[in-house]
Amino acid sequence: MTVSSPARLVVLVSGSGTNLQALLDACADPAYGARVVAVGADREGIEGLARAERSGVPTFVNQVSHYGSREDWDRALADRVAAFEPDLVVLAGFMKLVGESFLARFGGRTVNTHPALSPSFPGMHGPADALAYGVKVTGATLFVVDAGVDTGVIVAQTVVPVEDDDDVESLHERIKVAEREMLVESVGRMAREGFRVEGRRVHLGVAPRG
Ligand code: GAR
Repeated sequence: MTVSSPARLVVLVSGSGTNLQALLDACADPAYGARVVAVGADREGIEGLARAERSGVPTFVNQVSHYGSREDWDRALADRVAAFEPDLVVLAGFMKLVGESFLARFGGRTVNTHPALSPSFPGMHGPADALAYGVKVTGATLFVVDAGVDTGVIVAQTVVPVEDDDDVESLHERIKVAEREMLVESVGRMAREGFRVEGRRVHLGVAPRG
């Protein structure tokens, strides 16, 4: 996939937005090759939106309960995102699954970051599930979003140890430090160099064929 320069990013958030902040900070350097053109959320009053506002980035909120159906919400979200003409959509702690309409428009250029090492521990509770299972290492996975739950083609993974005295919060915080670094590094490369998805692999820095 070729991208414009600097690449236009729309970031979707549901919470504290520390991954968003890492992207905003990276984008402050023109050499990074991307800029956040809008931040969307599925709820009001979150720190993620406040971070965008402090950076002067336009925001929008599409709340599922304001729509007649999940499909209507999904279509409206896709319209909202499309208005900002993104090269890449980044789900950064966005706690909703996007649906068919969204993927019809942005499939192949939407990435999500998940706080576990896929294919282990998909879903909403990656750090808690890893802790409960007793794994010794876990981490975060950046993937190209598909119709499944955290099943998309993997762009990057980062590994962190699980310490004996970890609770869910301490483990998630350790994951998030590594996750932010992975996200900034990978999104930057996708933006600057383009990427191509072939089967279960993402090739960064490879010009598209044809
Ligand atoms: C991140 O760890 C992200 O991987 C996770 O939420 C956190 C958001 O943190 N996302 C999911 O669990 C999605 N299933 P942030 O709001 O501080 O960026």
